Amino acid sequence: MKSTNHVLVTGGAGYIGSHTVVELMEAGNKVTVVDNLERSEYKIIEGVEAITGTKIDFHKIDCLDSESLNQLFSQNKFSSVIHFAAFKSVNESVVKPLSYYKNNVGSLITLLDVMKVHQVKDLIFSSSCTVYGQPDHIPVDESAPFKKAESPYGSTKQVCEQILEEVAKEGFRVVSLRYFNPIGAHPSSLIGELPIGVPNNLVPYVTQTAAKVREKLTVFGDDYDTSDGSCVRDFIHVSDVASAHVKAIDYLNKQKENFYDAFNLGTGIGVSVLELVKKFIEVTGVNLNYSIGPRRSGDVEKVYADPKKIHHAFGWQTKYDLGQSLLHAWQWEKKLRNI
Ligand code: UD1
Repeated sequence: MKSTNHVLVTGGAGYIGSHTVVELMEAGNKVTVVDNLERSEYKIIEGVEAITGTKIDFHKIDCLDSESLNQLFSQNKFSSVIHFAAFKSVNESVVKPLSYYKNNVGSLITLLDVMKVHQVKDLIFSSSCTVYGQPDHIPVDESAPFKKAESPYGSTKQVCEQILEEVAKEGFRVVSLRYFNPIGAHPSSLIGELPIGVPNNLVPYVTQTAAKVREKLTVFGDDYDTSDGSCVRDFIHVSDVASAHVKAIDYLNKQKENFYDAFNLGTGIGVSVLELVKKFIEVTGVNLNYSIGPRRSGDVEKVYADPKKIHHAFGWQTKYDLGQSLLHAWQWEKKLRNI
């Protein structure tokens, strides 16, 4: 059965956004994408078009531009919005906190204002496990309290969730999805992550080192209180993250007015940085130049999801394991570099 949803995806040319557009379209949803292309590239939209065989309704709009958003909402009857558009570099946020608050919090407020005018009530928000800081109990579930944010980036996610919980009381229906560590790329290698400059995140650094774009990977610390001393994270395939958004729309459609809830979006499996490096070498057969370095400031030792709540509420499960995720990340890197 064809869906009647018309979903507006902000930041739809970004890493998680583009994979979500694919999943939404494959599930029969009508999709409109806005992106300011400041940190993404139009070729990703072309990749989405190649995967889905459909022209994307794309608009180059910044989510701080309420006039353009208003116009778009006047021309379309959106049933829901998925708001990905945001800055996401922890390091950069420490140097430019104001621009993080302005962009991440400001764009959410602008979007909510426009949604309210046009009576679009359903919103899915990209949050992060960073809201938990170093949780007292692992796996962490959604009842864990927010700890003081380690960075302005983390703080913007906490503030946005708080805003959403408040505005839900005036009629919005909102789901926040707390992403753990999305990795990998679409199995077609037609879309994937496009890091800007030197990657901060682990997997793009691994694949760029394997592609000889970087000389060596540094594993930040092997003296943590974990099985092998390196940090532990919950790495999840980006297409699995994407498919959860499709389920989130169905879930919101079933709710009454005034709804807010947050869900962990992770695999539930803790993997150490060194385990990931070894798995990458095993599945790709590529040798990886790496060494142990000092800890990176602001890193939490160990965090992985308790995903029971999202399993139960959405009927969602992951499809890909760590090996497949790393293989897809490597295939995408090879495609980018013509290897
Ligand atoms: C953090 C946040 C996440 C946020 C993301 C945005 C936490 C737990 N997670 O992810 O919510 O969305 O930033 O960027 O706060 N590492 C190396 N060498 C490298 C790069 C990374 O050893 O060159 C290690 C890190 O020390 C860390 C792990 O790999 O232990 C994962 O790092 P990264 O990919 O940057 O993600 P997080 O910091 O976990």
